[in-house]
Amino acid sequence: MLRTPSAVRDAERHTAHNYHPLPVVISSAEGAWLTDVDGRRYLDCLAGYSALNFGHRHPKLIEAAHAQLDRLTLTSRAFIHDQFADFCRELAALCGKDLVLPMNTGAEAVETGIKVARKWGYQVKGVTPGQANIVVAEGNFHGRTTTIVSFSTDEDARADFGPYTPGFTVVPYGDLAALTAAIDENTVAVLLEPIQGEQGVVVPPEGYLPGVREVCTERNVLFIADEIQSGLGRTGATFACEQEGVVPDMYLLGKALGGGIVPVSAVAANADVLGVLKPGQHGSTFGGNPLACAVATEVVRLLATGEFQRRSAELGERLHAGLRGLVGKGLVAVRGRGLWAGLDIDPALMTGREACERLMERGVLAKDTHGSTIRLAPPLVITEEEIDHAVAQLAAVLAG
Ligand SMILES: Cc1ncc(COP(=O)(O)O)c(C=O)c1O
Repeated sequence: MLRTPSAVRDAERHTAHNYHPLPVVISSAEGAWLTDVDGRRYLDCLAGYSALNFGHRHPKLIEAAHAQLDRLTLTSRAFIHDQFADFCRELAALCGKDLVLPMNTGAEAVETGIKVARKWGYQVKGVTPGQANIVVAEGNFHGRTTTIVSFSTDEDARADFGPYTPGFTVVPYGDLAALTAAIDENTVAVLLEPIQGEQGVVVPPEGYLPGVREVCTERNVLFIADEIQSGLGRTGATFACEQEGVVPDMYLLGKALGGGIVPVSAVAANADVLGVLKPGQHGSTFGGNPLACAVATEVVRLLATGEFQRRSAELGERLHAGLRGLVGKGLVAVRGRGLWAGLDIDPALMTGREACERLMERGVLAKDTHGSTIRLAPPLVITEEEIDHAVAQLAAVLAG
């Protein structure tokens, strides 16, 4: 008898239903592969929404975690620990910035970015107290806190969570003229995803990000790039911004920074920006803890080799070529960069959810978003054969 049905029921019984997971119960994983409680294997084409860029249980990351677990796990920032300096120095170097501020979740990095931008606005730019304003984009996804959902344009994410935090102006994504027009003397920052992941891997028009960079520089506004999902190798470079020749004032990082082991996020910026924070003004009990730093330092070292960025660029070509071949054969459109793709399924055929359920039956796990879109973001350790396998399974699902 299969264990999955009862395991699914057990998992749902005592939890809030804030997710609608696929009915699969995973018990172990390695590299790009997952195994469920019934011993069935699945190719992971979601990779924890890019938190598992290096695959499940990458040996170097597991080794770093084990070694740290045996020595020291938590001090709080009240004391300094011996993993902190290397992590901050090496991540700052990877980002080409002076300083980093470690937190835990992506949403906390975004909140940190917002707080820093506001303080910078008042203290450095000279914005009127209480008037700071941040320009954001329609279709954004930056996390789930009350302030962040205040400027979401997704009603599922936002409705009934008010009263909403003021101080944000929403403009259409990819529209440089609208963004420029929204900037006024109280604007402290523009906060954008260089590619909108949750929205369906939406790539902005060419020239948009360089244009945003230019207008931010001209108007003395911070450009905050939320690279929590797009960064750290996913698009075929360390940062998606890099592929547009753009250097933001602040990087927001998360997900893959924790190596799929621990939640680690960070804000990276130069001293003229992050330097506005003084003791007592921001923090987190677990942010920058020894276990997180030990794992994340190893993540930064993996990225410093360039191997994963290269793999993502090269294998991404293969993935996108395969997917483009399915346009007109069940797919309406394919977007993305590197090992990251948003696919629009022909709604006349099936929903994104149905496509994911059928893929699951064929041993491939992916996740739908916004009705008829599927997101593919396999671990960057996936092989050519595995990519071909995933595309073949998708073709079979679309062929009915
Ligand atoms: C671009 C982006 N920013 C922020 C977040 C929030 O991260 P977390 O779920 O770790 O709070 C996400 C999560 O999907 C994201 O994709």
